[in-house]
Amino acid sequence: MAPPSFRSFGLLLSILSGRGAAQSPVIPPHDLGCVHLPIIHSTNVNHFSEKRGVQLMLANRSDVAYYAQLSIGTPPQPVYVQLDTGSFELWVNPDCTRVSGSDQLFCERAGRYDSAKSTTVESLGTTKTLRYGIGSANISYVTDTITLAGSSAALQGVQFGVASTSEDTFSGILGIGYGSGIATRYLNFVDQLAAQNATKVKAYTLALGSKDAQEGVIVFGGVDTSKFGGPLTKLPVIPADLAPDKVPRFWVDMQSVAISPPNQASKPYAGSNMPVFLDSGSTMTLLPPNLTSAIAADFGVAGPDSNGFFRIDCAYTKMNGTVDFAFNGVTVKVPYKEMIREVSGATPACFLGITPSSSFTLLGDTFLRSAYAVFDFENNSIWMSQAANCGSTPAALTRSTDLSSIVGACTTTVSAASGGSASGIPGFASGSGGSGSTSGTAGGSQPVSAGVRNTERSGLLLLYVMAAVAVGTAVLG
Ligand SMILES: *[C@@H]1O[C@H](CO)[C@@H](O)[C@H](O)[C@H]1NC(C)=O
Ligand SMILES: *[C@@H]1O[C@H](CO)[C@@H](O)[C@H](O)[C@H]1NC(C)=O
Ligand SMILES: *[C@@H]1O[C@H](CO)[C@@H](O)[C@H](O)[C@H]1NC(C)=O
Ligand SMILES: *[C@@H]1O[C@H](CO)[C@@H](O)[C@H](O)[C@H]1NC(C)=O
Ligand SMILES: *[C@@H]1O[C@H](CO)[C@@H](O)[C@H](O)[C@H]1NC(C)=O
Ligand SMILES: *[C@@H]1O[C@H](CO)[C@@H](O)[C@H](O)[C@H]1NC(C)=O
Repeated sequence: MAPPSFRSFGLLLSILSGRGAAQSPVIPPHDLGCVHLPIIHSTNVNHFSEKRGVQLMLANRSDVAYYAQLSIGTPPQPVYVQLDTGSFELWVNPDCTRVSGSDQLFCERAGRYDSAKSTTVESLGTTKTLRYGIGSANISYVTDTITLAGSSAALQGVQFGVASTSEDTFSGILGIGYGSGIATRYLNFVDQLAAQNATKVKAYTLALGSKDAQEGVIVFGGVDTSKFGGPLTKLPVIPADLAPDKVPRFWVDMQSVAISPPNQASKPYAGSNMPVFLDSGSTMTLLPPNLTSAIAADFGVAGPDSNGFFRIDCAYTKMNGTVDFAFNGVTVKVPYKEMIREVSGATPACFLGITPSSSFTLLGDTFLRSAYAVFDFENNSIWMSQAANCGSTPAALTRSTDLSSIVGACTTTVSAASGGSASGIPGFASGSGGSGSTSGTAGGSQPVSAGVRNTERSGLLLLYVMAAVAVGTAVLG
């Protein structure tokens, strides 16, 4: 709780003259009763590089993670945080010295919150350790004001964590999973939006945007009918006690996975009917090893590399095929290009956007880019449709809105490839570098934000899997 001072004004000036405000995107005025934030792709150099100095090699890490900008404190300090539907809490200020190479630059540019420079901060005097598999953070809880870019909403007294130390995490995380009374002991960010009347319902919609887009959008308390076509299909969220890991999050029943190669009939995979959860904090989609191998075989790959990734011919990114995820009443067709992670560099490399996992079945960014999803906390449902992009028309939901009557304005023709002829298989160096692949372990009787993270330190491939693991009793009293 620092008094106002020249330091504060100096900070404000540096924010205004720096990347924080000067390069903010132009955001259309928000519809009253909802809050829409642009989702920043990590490839967006307007946000994550400075005008002068080194251009961050973000092109090398395309579509690894998705960020939103928060302004924390008084005066506001801009901080980018990773949007994570797979965890529950907001925290900022990772230790950037404890991440490697280009991660470090990225970490520094994501912004920091200095509580000493805020006149509205209150320390709660409580701490917690959040574990993310090979990464973790020790946080102290504070409350402060949070304002949102492009919105008049200012949330007062929002509880979040400030990291004192952290390891292998290079941005703060905005956990937008279930909050108070379910997965946290306090009102989390999504709870506060509703509690402080910034939104009329506890729900948000996520449109990450395609790989070619630099931005997507998240609308808290609303929908954007210019980001999908046709109706939304309601999928019940599987209650925690029936979910595979007993953790309250966005588990839904997936009926099948199929492949639709160019000009061929769709072919479903055996045994692909299973519960999956939607996790924007995960770069990849994680499926059982035998299913992943069967899909990879249809991309011409015999087996995973030494890091467990399926390296495929980049020519597939130009083919008009899709991987189709079917749910009861809706199928999301993911174009090959969106399903494949392309890693640029001297020798471009491509990887199937699905990795084998015996412990998780989750649909990460390689799926979510092609889906439009409403996360409806009021009715514990996911409303889903194929994603599209035909403008920007965010609008508030109210308690009386019937989501089944909402129709997306776009025409959705899933056309995969951007054209061009398929080239040969690029030669590739053998996958080197220590892969830090660890299963998250966490103890305790509450759902810690524990997870798994894979980082291939060669810089070839950077992946995040912010997926909380089962940690005992999930529901808090
Ligand atoms: C968190 O604090 C504990 C105890 O002080 C320490 O042993 C641990 O290394 C810290 N974790 C991180 C990620 O810094
Ligand atoms: C939000 O709206 C409700 C109902 O109109 C009202 O009772 C409550 O005081 C409002 N809360 C805030 C923080 O404005
Ligand atoms: C994977 O294994 C499960 C259980 O052993 C089986 O039911 C399923 O059909 C298999 N899937 C594929 C694609 O082989
Ligand atoms: C891709 O395939 C779909 C369905 O098979 C077809 O409708 C579409 O015209 C194709 N697009 C291109 C560019 O070939
Ligand atoms: C990153 O990409 C740039 C340009 O695409 C390339 O020059 C550089 O070698 C790449 N770096 C790594 C570590 O792959
Ligand atoms: C939730 O369900 C109720 C009826 O059970 C309905 O009136 C309401 O519109 C639904 N809310 C949303 C956001 O769909």
